[in-house]
Amino acid sequence: MSKGIKIAIDGPAAAGKSTIAKRIAEKLDFTYIDTGAMYRALTHKALVNDINITSDHELTSLLEQTELRLQPSPTGQIVFIDGLDCTEEIRSPQVTANVSEVAAHENVRHLMVDKQRKLALATGVVMDGRDIGTAVLPDAELKVFMTASVEERAIRRHLEDEKRGIHTPVEQLKAQIAERDRADSERIVSPLKKAEDAVVIDTTSMTIDEVVEEIIGLAEKRMKK
Ligand code: C5P
Repeated sequence: MSKGIKIAIDGPAAAGKSTIAKRIAEKLDFTYIDTGAMYRALTHKALVNDINITSDHELTSLLEQTELRLQPSPTGQIVFIDGLDCTEEIRSPQVTANVSEVAAHENVRHLMVDKQRKLALATGVVMDGRDIGTAVLPDAELKVFMTASVEERAIRRHLEDEKRGIHTPVEQLKAQIAERDRADSERIVSPLKKAEDAVVIDTTSMTIDEVVEEIIGLAEKRMKK
């Protein structure tokens, strides 16, 4: 008998978490929740509205007045901010450069974690982020910590960006990714950290299909328990 479980996928920037998480959710018919998109959405709205992103208070009151909606679609998850489709805008280099600062604020995280836990009440979820196994869903039946070398991650991000018409040199992406990893790992509140009971998967020399297969295999074992 199979059952819905919670799968937490954490890891550093551009490790392929969302591509993999989306595929797993499709295969298992689970709900996919991209928590990075939520922090990106708040960052985008803050930048558009000229909100001081060093202020926890200003950001939390902005978040309290914001309706965030994640909607699955055949082409991926659509992100609505106050009813407006901002799926593309939240991936802009400007949002990417500022999101770690926004995500470091304690009260911002409290509100986001509350929203994320509510979204995970559906049976069967795959949630990806930085603190899913450690803080958001510490009771997840399967926790994965996905890594890849910074070089490999920069190349993957470069190819992904090219498809969207964004042309950034690999070396520059490498520096940006390394800086985001540093900021996410060194922040005080819920830093990026492997949960003690997480399975580590280094995807540097693996194909997407191989990673998906490995995680599905682990999930099937957990579902049988
Ligand atoms: O996953 P993605 O790269 O889109 O995440 C963007 C940023 O959002 C991360 O660099 C991190 O600062 C923040 N984040 C977080 N906690 C999560 C998910 C993302 O702090 N659970």
